[in-house]
Amino acid sequence: MREPQSRRTFLGVAATGAALGLNTTTTRGEGSDSLAILGGKPVRKGEYTRWPIIDQDDERAWMEVLRTGRWCRLNGKYADTFEEAWARTLGAKHALAVANGTSALVTSLAALGVGPGDEVVVPPYTFVATINAVLLHHALPVFVDTDIETLQIDASKIEAALTERTTCIIPVHLGGSAADMDQIQTIARKHKIPVLEDACQAHLAEWRGKKVGTMGALGCFSFQASKNLNSGEGGAIVSNDDRLIEECKSFQNNGRGSSALYAHSRNGANLRITEFQAALLARQLSRLETQSRTREQNAQYLTSLLKEIPGLAPARMYDGCTRNAYHLYMFRYAPDGFAGLPREQFLKALAAEGVPASSGYEPLYRQPFLKNTLESRGFKAIYPPERLAALSGGIHCPQNDQLCKEAVWLTQTMLLGPRSDMDQIADAVRKIQRHAGKLVKA
Ligand SMILES: Cc1ncc(COP(=O)(O)O)c(C=O)c1O
Repeated sequence: MREPQSRRTFLGVAATGAALGLNTTTTRGEGSDSLAILGGKPVRKGEYTRWPIIDQDDERAWMEVLRTGRWCRLNGKYADTFEEAWARTLGAKHALAVANGTSALVTSLAALGVGPGDEVVVPPYTFVATINAVLLHHALPVFVDTDIETLQIDASKIEAALTERTTCIIPVHLGGSAADMDQIQTIARKHKIPVLEDACQAHLAEWRGKKVGTMGALGCFSFQASKNLNSGEGGAIVSNDDRLIEECKSFQNNGRGSSALYAHSRNGANLRITEFQAALLARQLSRLETQSRTREQNAQYLTSLLKEIPGLAPARMYDGCTRNAYHLYMFRYAPDGFAGLPREQFLKALAAEGVPASSGYEPLYRQPFLKNTLESRGFKAIYPPERLAALSGGIHCPQNDQLCKEAVWLTQTMLLGPRSDMDQIADAVRKIQRHAGKLVKA
């Protein structure tokens, strides 16, 4: 029997399908009614779309870089080519490709001058990199609770979290949907605080027709293996601000200016993308639009099915979100609709039916990394004990706590197949619902 998985394992398993040890035949679940977890026939026997999708052009691009011997962007051309294409695709003035999404965030915060003593508003429902980027600059993350219906930061609670030390607001467009950019931009403008969009999961997502990542001072993307645009590792920063993008360029290139190799105008690090990553990205980008449309159509259909199932609540989108990238398909699960069946058992039963799903993030503010960092020598040297204590012990995000108990995620690769795949997901859920009582007793 397959167990529910951690997020990264889950994204990998769902992507390969092979790891499920299944063949490619499919069966509809409504007829074969005994639960797979109790020995019955699974609703689905088959792989989801393999990820990444590659063809001969990807191989050619890779080999071209290999043969030129120009593997570093300092003497290559592919990083420049991809940056132009990414900026054009998003309608941004500038794009800068970097090593990964974490580097994009770290670089952007450096460009914004975020440092010791500063506070940065963050959502708690995100990948840890959003928070780590803040901590790496010795600034304090200030968690604003989640809107449990959309799974995004609750923008109505941001203003109350601002202090005179707030130097940045980081909305995360989680799962490929969009945070409430109307409210966030209004608050940011009023208080003159820059917005850094973490769009690491939201390639091509839109807010009122504009691509997410292009509305704040800076926007960050990840091209890590699980992402909708993938080069194994990779990242990008987009901006319409000439000065900020120059700061980013310099920071990720060891603080160099644009002229001499050993002239360093600011602090920095080597967070550059390689030519191999950039060449793959340029190729993968040619498929992104079509793949995104498929995900969107399948996801909308899946929502129409799942919202009718008592106990399930698909993540709501804000009205302003005119396009969802569906990096994740997210819904909330209430045991009440399933004879009291706990979420972990629901996930096990779903996996046995051939539909792998994950329980998503744990509350980040309860994890040891935060307390350990705040109690480190460096942080103690910067901040008074009461400020650190308030952060490490006093975080109150009840909506997020609740969400972490209820969330269920399906990965983007499950949305790339035929519409019948969506029927199967709903069939599997309904089948578990019909028999949930047996599992509760078992
Ligand atoms: C919301 C979010 N922010 C930041 C990152 C970091 O990106 P990377 O893994 O490319 O460093 C990720 C990647 O999973 C992410 O999902």
